[in-house]
Amino acid sequence: MKLFFQHQKEETLAVSIFKTKPIASLIAETEGKQGLKKALGATDLTLLGIGAVIGTGIFVLTGVAAANYSGPALVVSFILSGLACFFAALCYAEFASTVPVAGSAYTYSYAALGEIWAWIIGWDLILEYTVSISAVAIGWSGYAVTLLNSVGIHLPAALIGAPGTPGGFINLPAMIIIALIAWLLLSGVRQTSNLNGVIVFIKLAVIALFIFLAVWHVHPSNWHPFMPYGFNGVVSGAAVIFFAYLGFDAVSTAAEETKNPQKNLPRGILFSLLICTVLYIVVSGILTGVVKYTAFKNTSAPVAYALQQIGINWGSAAVSIGAICGITSVLLVIMYGQTRIFFAMSRDGLIPKAFGKVSEKQKTPVSSTVIVAVATMIMAGFLPIGIVADLANIGTLFAFMIVSIGVWVLRVKRPDLKRAFRTPWVPVVVPLAVLSCGYLVIHLQTATLWRFVIWFAIGMVVYFSYSRRHSALNQATSDSAEHAS
Ligand code: ALA
Repeated sequence: MKLFFQHQKEETLAVSIFKTKPIASLIAETEGKQGLKKALGATDLTLLGIGAVIGTGIFVLTGVAAANYSGPALVVSFILSGLACFFAALCYAEFASTVPVAGSAYTYSYAALGEIWAWIIGWDLILEYTVSISAVAIGWSGYAVTLLNSVGIHLPAALIGAPGTPGGFINLPAMIIIALIAWLLLSGVRQTSNLNGVIVFIKLAVIALFIFLAVWHVHPSNWHPFMPYGFNGVVSGAAVIFFAYLGFDAVSTAAEETKNPQKNLPRGILFSLLICTVLYIVVSGILTGVVKYTAFKNTSAPVAYALQQIGINWGSAAVSIGAICGITSVLLVIMYGQTRIFFAMSRDGLIPKAFGKVSEKQKTPVSSTVIVAVATMIMAGFLPIGIVADLANIGTLFAFMIVSIGVWVLRVKRPDLKRAFRTPWVPVVVPLAVLSCGYLVIHLQTATLWRFVIWFAIGMVVYFSYSRRHSALNQATSDSAEHAS
């Protein structure tokens, strides 16, 4: 008899990596003692989304993509990338409305696909968020240094660039901004959300200002040739500026702090994506119409640069300040999202409990915020932006694909679940999401694909050596097998 149960226990452990988390228990868990404050509504979430999305991508990477890949067809790149995000966003919205708990794609995979997939996604999201925070902080540093230069303050080269950049040793401004954001996050979600609202407003105002000032200076001749690097170039450009869309999924990481999440989460996700897509299309069209695409080769501030070229220097300065605010809010939201993913993973036992500890007073996850801050400060201080931004793109695209498949799987496995938002035409939208994201992945650099594979392999080692043994779900399974014997 004992032997039978021993055998059964081993078998249970063997299949346990595909065990899924019951949705009811996921939701019940959030109502426990460790729960976070429920303070956010649909408008807060849309602002949170815009805060996460509009930043380094539109203010910095547009120039890189136009000059090196897309040319004036940058608009088409934004449409291609936006479409991939839209399909994925529909799937995120359904998941967020069905499983409204912290952890985003990670939690969804736990419910739909099983623990191993949840781990893969969680590990992938750690990469995505960590490298994004670092990349965005490096972008912030570039704008801050440019602005300081324009008022006559010149910092030593050794302190404003990572090793490998001219004269660089450490990117101190990037590290300082991360430390500041972490401090804000530790002060509590409501305060953070209010501040985010103000910054998002400034950011939108600055973009509107750019559109208003520049639209009169568009010369259609700048749009010829439209695709100087061919259609392949346009797709590569789309894979690069995909970074500009990254972040809308951060909305879903705030599920546990949201009032009426089944309704408000899908609204927040879709509204923020829609607003950003429209703005990107308009801004990129005007940008390449005002200045010849080749001129963006040597600038790290293309939007401000375009205004300079048409002689509106005050507008250029205003855009720079707005960009700094905008990029700051991106950092705020992405870092917030990262700590919530850690919170969810540690609650499940897949990473050490220390990552999920919530402070008594502010109800914010203290240890994970500090750990994320230290790790991203080191990366931002010592690594170049190119490597980190591309890794963020591949991490996100991969997560989008798995989440989309997860929606379909959950529809088949649990048709009975209450879904406040249903992705329309799942048999069409899910394959479109997977194919469009996959198409962008294969247009990223090969080195990026390898780095991603290595990160993935490390994740597998961690899972089988630590997470699987400490998994709350697995422990519950083996406890009941033990009990039966
Ligand atoms: N989408 C964010 C940005 O462009 C990450 O900065």
